Amino acid sequence: MVRCISVLALFFAAVSASSIADNVISKFGNQLRFQHVPNDEGGATLTDNWLKVADLIPSAYLPTRDNQFHLFTRDNPTVSQPLLLYNGALLLNSNFNASRRTVILIHGHGGSALSNFNLVLIPSYLAAADVNVILVDWSRGANSNTVLSLVNIALSARNVKNFIEFVTSTTGQSLADVSLVGVGLGGLQAGLIGRRLRRQVGYIAALDPTYWSAVHELLPQFRANDGVYTEVIHTNVGNRGYIKPMGQVDIYPNGGINMPGCGRDDACDQERAYYYWAEALTSGGFTARQCTDYEEALLQECQGATLTLGGIEPKTGASGIYSLQTNPSPPFSQG
Ligand SMILES: *[C@@H]1O[C@H](CO)[C@@H](O)[C@H](O)[C@H]1NC(C)=O
Repeated sequence: MVRCISVLALFFAAVSASSIADNVISKFGNQLRFQHVPNDEGGATLTDNWLKVADLIPSAYLPTRDNQFHLFTRDNPTVSQPLLLYNGALLLNSNFNASRRTVILIHGHGGSALSNFNLVLIPSYLAAADVNVILVDWSRGANSNTVLSLVNIALSARNVKNFIEFVTSTTGQSLADVSLVGVGLGGLQAGLIGRRLRRQVGYIAALDPTYWSAVHELLPQFRANDGVYTEVIHTNVGNRGYIKPMGQVDIYPNGGINMPGCGRDDACDQERAYYYWAEALTSGGFTARQCTDYEEALLQECQGATLTLGGIEPKTGASGIYSLQTNPSPPFSQG
């Protein structure tokens, strides 16, 4: 009897709550309302795809309040120095060194400071070169549904753009010596940040970036001219990533769809993009061959000129579509 009453009480609570929550603005793309949407963290999040009045309350995600920036250098490889936008004293007293390249890491949908993407790439960059690594934690914006994540990457991109301008103007560093590296939705955001920085960032890498026009053609995309040099790695096209070339250089390891060692796991395929990137930083290898078009890349029939995946320095001037083969487990490179 007690059980019955509590169920009824829940029912009435749900009815009264839904009269507020149901002020739906848009049934985005006419999608099912509730879906398990794959995130960039190897899992899926149950999301409400419809846009409601309550979602647009500005305080839901405020990058100036919610985004956090963490500096790692060879002097502090495991414990970060937090940096604050417009706090010049904090920046100038940190281990940041403007004579060294600065790498900005942007995690994906569903991610945070502790994303595997960060945990893999921070030590790899510091092992490979004496650089400043700055992790962008935009988790408050990255943990929402498809529609809001889209709004949020634009909001976050503006904040990160302001942060990078603050760093370069405070320390005298050139945008040419900045690299932006993002995965999934973070890869798309890296492009938006680069565009807002007047396309002067030296190196932008998008690792299996999300392609939004698969949802709607008016949504923002990664573009080849978002930076001085742009490189896109495709490891899960047709699912998390997009099939067509988007950068100056586009590399399709193993044909770009299913990565060896991943079975049929899309999340594993996407993660491989930053595992390959990390191994290329520390051990080199990953020699790719140029293709005549992306169809040839998907078929792994490329026999053209060689180019190596990733690296610390931008390969400015390089362009084209490439493919390479990897091993199923580390070391991934076949040379
Ligand atoms: C900054 O980096 C340069 C190049 O690595 C190095 O020569 C210089 O000593 C560094 N400055 C400080 C204060 O560590």
